[in-house]
Amino acid sequence: MSLTGSKAIYPGSFDPLTLGHDDIVRRALRLADQVLIAVAETSTHLKQHAFGLDERVRLIADVYADEPGVEVVPFSGLLVDFAARHGARVIIRGLRAVSDFEYEFQMALMNRSLSPEIEVIFMAPASNYTFLSSSLVREVAALGGDVSPYVPAAVLKSLVGRYGPARKG
Ligand code: PNS
Repeated sequence: MSLTGSKAIYPGSFDPLTLGHDDIVRRALRLADQVLIAVAETSTHLKQHAFGLDERVRLIADVYADEPGVEVVPFSGLLVDFAARHGARVIIRGLRAVSDFEYEFQMALMNRSLSPEIEVIFMAPASNYTFLSSSLVREVAALGGDVSPYVPAAVLKSLVGRYGPARKG
């Protein structure tokens, strides 16, 4: 299957977007001409979000303001319905470690069962981001740690606004 000229959907909660997510977006842009970042109102495994949907979307739009190949769209409801509405047949998911596998495999097969024409592609992030997750970033920021190596500048600003600056020393 050639992805040239195609649109790939990169769905997630992005609560908040990390440099690990950004790494996957940039890798996906090597495969597809257009990457549609689909920001889920609610996630299958996260019941409550730290950042509201509007803010998550706004932050991501800010990060990719100069990247014409990236579009950011909020969604609720089934991911396969969202993909159909946007004429996309490829879903990208990042896979960091074996621990991600079971959840991702289950979702991929459910999505395929719901919509057989959709293909899910798993991409590995750069190895220095394999330990990174939005929940760890939130926790470290809330406890006064420096999260500047893990998130884009716009996200860092928002985290500092919410949790305060990193403690010194
Ligand atoms: O970043 P996350 O929280 O791991 O992303 C999970 C997400 C949003 C991709 C998943 O929960 C999802 O697709 N939700 C939309 C509802 C849906 O389609 N559920 C069935 C998935 S098999």
